[in-house]
Amino acid sequence: MIMRDRGDCVATRGFTRNDKLGGSAFVRVLFNNMKMITNSTQETIAFGKKFAKTLKGGEVVLLIGDLGSGKTTFVKGVASELGVKNTITSPTFVLMKVYKIKNIKIKKNIKVLVHIDAYRGLDLNDLENIGALEYFGEHDTICLVEWGGALEDYCRKKKIIFKKISIKNINQKTREFIY
Ligand SMILES: Nc1ncnc2c1ncn2[C@@H]1O[C@H](COP(=O)(O)OP(=O)(O)OP(=O)(O)O)[C@@H](O)[C@H]1O
Ligand SMILES: [Mg+2]
Repeated sequence: MIMRDRGDCVATRGFTRNDKLGGSAFVRVLFNNMKMITNSTQETIAFGKKFAKTLKGGEVVLLIGDLGSGKTTFVKGVASELGVKNTITSPTFVLMKVYKIKNIKIKKNIKVLVHIDAYRGLDLNDLENIGALEYFGEHDTICLVEWGGALEDYCRKKKIIFKKISIKNINQKTREFIY
């Protein structure tokens, strides 16, 4: 697992106002120019676990990457670290799975993990209809959205803290995460 800072990239650090924090707080969102290379499924799960430690509650994580790039695998790591006991499977057909976290391992205020798959071109109306949007930005909830790139504008508009993770298939075993 290789991790390195890509501080040489520009214009991808941002600040946004988060009304949920009482109006005057400014919180940093999204893209920190970090790169992670994983060389196996297990390493991606380990990366998901590590990433989960940085979550506070209220974040939406947008996962962007080709078929089979490892989005669900990454979610498995996040869920495991947050204390979800269920086996994580892709929500491709049910569109959204909601997991209640009873015994959080690392952060006490995260109680719900929501896993959404927007592969079938789910738009905002669809997400609203399935009740997904009401979880976005909830302070005790983490939402992970596969194929979630199209939600970036929505999150910005609604001042929802989001993190974007782009995954590239380098070869059969190697994946590059930019986050
Ligand atoms: N470094 C790696 N990281 C993650 N998965 C890997 C890696 N190397 C091989 N794989 C394999 O690639 C596949 C990734 O599948 P996964 O379901 O996580 O992808 P996905 O991005 O969610 O796909 P989909 O777009 O269909 O939802 C698994 O079969 C996994 O074992
Ligand atoms: Mg998937």
